[in-house]
Amino acid sequence: MSSSERFWEQGYSDPNVWTMGGPSLEVYEVEQQLPRNATVLDIGCGEGRNALFLAFRGHSVTALELSSSAVRKLRSIADEFALNIDVIEGRIEDFVPDKTYDLALAHSSLHFVTKDVWVPLVNELRQRTSKGGFHNFTSIIGTSRYPVPYECRHANSFDRGDLESLYADWQVLRSDFYAKWDSHPGISTHVHAVEKFVARKARPDEPLPFIKVDLSNGDELSFELFDSIPLRIHIADVKLPCIRPNTVNRIEISGLNMNSPTQLTRSYAVEEWFFGRYALQFTQGVLTGKYEYFTQPISLRAVQSMSNRRGAGAHLGSRNAG
Ligand SMILES: C[S@@+](CC[C@H](N)C(=O)[O-])C[C@H]1O[C@@H](n2cnc3c(N)ncnc32)[C@H](O)[C@@H]1O
Repeated sequence: MSSSERFWEQGYSDPNVWTMGGPSLEVYEVEQQLPRNATVLDIGCGEGRNALFLAFRGHSVTALELSSSAVRKLRSIADEFALNIDVIEGRIEDFVPDKTYDLALAHSSLHFVTKDVWVPLVNELRQRTSKGGFHNFTSIIGTSRYPVPYECRHANSFDRGDLESLYADWQVLRSDFYAKWDSHPGISTHVHAVEKFVARKARPDEPLPFIKVDLSNGDELSFELFDSIPLRIHIADVKLPCIRPNTVNRIEISGLNMNSPTQLTRSYAVEEWFFGRYALQFTQGVLTGKYEYFTQPISLRAVQSMSNRRGAGAHLGSRNAG
């Protein structure tokens, strides 16, 4: 077992600890334009925060993960809630996709393998994606100011722009680049530069099913003030003299709480405050992430619901409070 594998194994082995929080906001966004009972692949799913959210929404999920502790945890939650998740314990390097997917995800996992592994896999998945389907990847990319943190220990196998080139013939919905300050149980606050990429299998000149909402309005915080705000404090304790966020993006997902694997039934709320290039993200009222954007911060607002979505999400309701 490599040191990186040991790191994740330790984080996942406590059944009472949830290491990564709730579903990603772009997964929540994209889900609104998935067909009913969509086929989803989640590569390097960890404990399955996104896989669980999507399965709760009624989709059929294949989830690949090498950590046996994470696989055990995810299987037991999926069984308890009778969710349609096929959890495969295995390595990205050995994975051979055998279905057509409506959504393929890889959140902070492809950068663990070298380019000669992830590029052919991504190309195969591009073929195995239904028309109008989505790909969504987040990857850590080292920059001179924000080198890859030691504890992330990945293969340094992503460069900014790799995905945009590969997906030149698809609609690129998001290609965000930012530095994120975050923390997980067992490791202290760290900062890394991240690319968040969402593409849709459709000609770039076709109408988009989303409006890209610019979130960057408002006064900018000074870096010193931004840097001084500690993670994990409560929203009520954030004191910002003479400055207010002009944009607040609040998402509520009822029926799901990923703060703990033993509490999956309460509502889950994420609130983001934007100050120009800087943003604070609160999960359940606690500051869980701080962002310095190098690209314009945006959110995707679905322009219309899929007509065949009626009945989707039987287990879970959701509301975007705007
Ligand atoms: C940063 S975590 C992200 C987990 C999950 N995608 C999420 O967003 O919560 C990265 C995950 O990738 C998994 N991973 C790393 N290398 C892998 C590989 N070669 N094959 C399969 N999974 C891998 C790790 O075990 C870990 O669970």
